[in-house]
Amino acid sequence: MVASGWGAAREGVLFDPTVVNLNTGSCGPLPRTVFDRVTNLRAHLARAPMDFLLRRVPGLLWEARARLAAFLGGDPHRLAFTTNVTGAVNLVATALPLAGPGEVLLSDHEYAPMRRCWERAARRQGLTVREFELPARPSDPAEVVEAAVAAMTPGTRLLFLSHVVSSTGVVLPVAELCEQARRRGITTVVDGAQAPAFTDVDLASIPCDFYAGSGHKWLLAPTGTGFLHFGADERTGASTARLLRPTQVSWGFEPPAGAGPPDGRDRFGSTPRLREFECEGTRDITPWLAVPAALDFHAGLGHDRIRARRGELVAFTRERLTGWRGLEPVTPNHPALSGAMTAFRLPEGTDGAELHRGLWEGFRVEVPVVERPEQALLRVSTNFYNTEAEVERLAEALKELMRA
Ligand SMILES: Cc1ncc(COP(=O)(O)O)c(C=O)c1O
Repeated sequence: MVASGWGAAREGVLFDPTVVNLNTGSCGPLPRTVFDRVTNLRAHLARAPMDFLLRRVPGLLWEARARLAAFLGGDPHRLAFTTNVTGAVNLVATALPLAGPGEVLLSDHEYAPMRRCWERAARRQGLTVREFELPARPSDPAEVVEAAVAAMTPGTRLLFLSHVVSSTGVVLPVAELCEQARRRGITTVVDGAQAPAFTDVDLASIPCDFYAGSGHKWLLAPTGTGFLHFGADERTGASTARLLRPTQVSWGFEPPAGAGPPDGRDRFGSTPRLREFECEGTRDITPWLAVPAALDFHAGLGHDRIRARRGELVAFTRERLTGWRGLEPVTPNHPALSGAMTAFRLPEGTDGAELHRGLWEGFRVEVPVVERPEQALLRVSTNFYNTEAEVERLAEALKELMRA
C-alpha cells in the first residue's frame, strides 16, 4: 500500500521493485526524469564529443551552478563542482596551509574516511587531530554547541563537522557552531554530504570557510555530483578559494591575463578561480549538468510536502521499531536535530555484519548497519518514495534474523 498521492511520485523513481531501499543516506535512486536528462546529455557527448564539450557545456554548466547555488542559498561565483564530498574535503585538507603547531578538532562522529583525511593532513603540517564527544542523545541544539565550544582551545586551528551526522542522522547546529569558531579565529570546514534536500541548507547564514556537499544522496542527482562552496571574507567579501591551490594541474591552472576577473563568469561556464579546481582534463561532467533536473523533480513534488511525508514515515519507523527485538533509537525526536534518517542501537552482542548480510540475502532489504565503538547501529533512511509496508518488511526481517 502506498500512501495516497505518493504512488505516482514513487513510480517516477527508478526502482528495482524486488528491493526495499531504506538507504537514501548512502546513495539515492534516480528519478526517471533525471536519468533521462543525464542519458540525453551523455548521448550528445558520445555522438559529438567536441561539439558537446566546447559549445554545449558552458551554458549548461553555469545554469547548473546558478540553480544549485540558489537552492542552497549560496553564491554561484563561489561554488565549484566536484565528483563527491570525498574529493571536496580532500582538496581542502591537502591544499589549505594551516599554521602549526596546533590541532584539528573533529567530533567523534565524523565519517571515517574524512577523519583519516584530516589525520594525514595534520601529520603533514605538524598538527594533531583531537576528537570531542557529541552528546549521546541531545535534547536541544544548545547541548551540541556547548560540547563543541568547551572543546575549542587556543591551539585549535580548524574545526571539521558534519551538517548531518552520517551514523545517527542527527542534524548539527552548524551555523551557530561556525559562528563560535569564527569568533575564536578557527577555520571551519563543514561536511554537508547528507544535507542538501535532507535539511534546509542556507549557505548565506552558515559562516563557514568551506562547505562540501553532495547531490547524489537526498537530492537524487546522478552519482558523481559533489560541490565545494567557498566562504567569503567578512570585510572584503573575497572567496576563500584564494587560499587553495589546485591539487591537479590542467587547463584552468593559473589563468592567463585576459581570462577576466578571477571571480567573474567566464566563457567556460565557470569563473577563472573555480575553473582552476574544476578542470581536471577530459572527463564526463554530465552528472553536474543534470542537477537542474533533480531540482525540478523536487520542486514538482513540493519541498514541504516531501518533508511532511518523510515526517510521517519517520514517526511510523520510530513507533514500529522502538523496543522491537531490543532496538533503541539514538536519533533525537527534536525537529531541529533530526530529519529523514533514524538510527537504532542494536542489542549488545549483535553481529552487525551478519545482520546486514541476512537482511539483504534473505529479504532484499537495503539498510546499513554502522559499526560504532559503543555499539552497532541500524540506520533507516525513509524518503518520500518509501512506504509503511517496507518498514514492516524490515521489522519482520529483524524478527526472523534476531530470533535468538
Ligand atoms: C557525512 C559524510 N561525509 C562524507 C561522505 C562521503 O560521500 P561521498 O562518498 O559521496 O564522497 C558521506 C557518505 O555517506 C557522508 O555521509
